[in-house]
Amino acid sequence: RGAAGLSQDLSGRRVVVSAGGTREFLDPVRYLGNRSSGRQGYALARAAVVRGASVTLVSASALPEPAGVKVVPVVSTRDMREAVLSAAASADAVVMAAAPADFRPAEYVEHKIKKVDDVSAPSVVLVQNPDILAELAHNRPSPGLVVVGFAAETGDASGSVLDHGRAKLARKGADLLVVNEVGATKGFESTENEAVILGADGSETPVPLGSKDLLAHHIWDLVATRLS
Ligand code: CTP
Ligand code: CA
Repeated sequence: RGAAGLSQDLSGRRVVVSAGGTREFLDPVRYLGNRSSGRQGYALARAAVVRGASVTLVSASALPEPAGVKVVPVVSTRDMREAVLSAAASADAVVMAAAPADFRPAEYVEHKIKKVDDVSAPSVVLVQNPDILAELAHNRPSPGLVVVGFAAETGDASGSVLDHGRAKLARKGADLLVVNEVGATKGFESTENEAVILGADGSETPVPLGSKDLLAHHIWDLVATRLS
């Protein structure tokens, strides 16, 4: 398999991976952001190169560019949407490993917002960003495009981590959803990941705790079997 560089099962395939947390600027010096490092997306990009794919990495991360990958840098969720939809037009698979900001400030202020006195503070009105994964999955540029999403979930009174994952997979219309349970020590800043990969066909593939590279190869294994 790919981890050993023995299989070129993605040779001749074009894949798109998104990575990192997008930033939504309020003014020239301030933004709303999130904790995504981009490491899982970069691991996916590197693993796809090893397996012979031609890789476009739409990145909102500051990590160093991986070798052999076409990197398209983006800042906001709307930038990421444009770059992903454009690259998806000629792709065989898209994996949305990024954490696009769900909301952005309703308006961007061209100059730095200043304090006007000692006590008052402005309110920030937010509006919802487009959902890139749902748009792409529900409106595929080619019928054979394989679409993969990620979800970091916690269980709560309305359902378990996997219940939330199943519901999200259906809502998004993706082929695969990589579900992580988030807790104090798992997910964001860690170098390791544990996940269950849910398939729209009802499949459930558990991936034990291991490196992000290992998880990346498990994801490409499932993508490869779905490529026509
Ligand atoms: N995603 C996306 N566009 C967005 C938000 C999310 O494409 N505006 C993608 C993410 O890259 C990920 C998947 O959708 O692959 C699920 O992201 P998540 O934040 O879990 O989903 P949301 O629909 O935003 O739900 P939640 O309210 O739980 O944040
Ligand atoms: Ca979200």
